[in-house]
Amino acid sequence: MGVEAEKRLAGEAASELVHDEMLVGLGTGTTVAYLLEAIARRAPKAIFFASSPRTQVAARALGLRVHGFGDVGRLDLAIDGADQIAPDGWLIKGGGGALTREKIVAAAAQRFVVIADSTKVVDVLHAPVPLELARFGLAATLERLGSCEVRDSPRSPDGGVIADYYGPVAEPSELARRLSRTPGVVAHGLFEPELVSELFVGDVATVRRTIIGGTK
Ligand code: 5RP
Repeated sequence: MGVEAEKRLAGEAASELVHDEMLVGLGTGTTVAYLLEAIARRAPKAIFFASSPRTQVAARALGLRVHGFGDVGRLDLAIDGADQIAPDGWLIKGGGGALTREKIVAAAAQRFVVIADSTKVVDVLHAPVPLELARFGLAATLERLGSCEVRDSPRSPDGGVIADYYGPVAEPSELARRLSRTPGVVAHGLFEPELVSELFVGDVATVRRTIIGGTK
């Protein structure tokens, strides 16, 4: 079985976590696209909150009830993909440039479930780490960060500049601290294990579920 089949299996398995009356955050990406289709087939009476305009459009087209994420303080569940998953539960996300909203949604969710194909599981996280940077003072922020390239892609929905950090990532907690402390960095794509409740990883014809246990 290929990568697409693994993504589909992971998305389908996670779709079963969605039940009537739940408030559910939706991530962004190709794995999430399979999740959306699987949720739509089950048609639970849940309310959804999208982490990107792309997901909002796709979810609404499938008939899901999507609300804006402005007035709700807590979600029951959020489900999203990842670019890299380390054995200790650290993630790199933001390959699609939606990292700021994805992190806000994940942090708001009582249970944050990551869906991925088996190629996303790595022994050690490696560059690039996606970043969203403020437009103001961009050159100064890049100078301070070093080893960083602005992506040739549209701004984020919140007006930020999407870039990638190419320095060493072997100590993710140290790097996350440094990036968070750097003025001009709106958000970075390192997601700490404390954010992550569970991993659903498609593995050939099955889904491997791993509890990371981040509780919020
Ligand atoms: C978007 C993300 C995605 O979840 C990540 O890039 C994985 O995408 P895909 O499911 O297409 O492999 O973080 O910003």
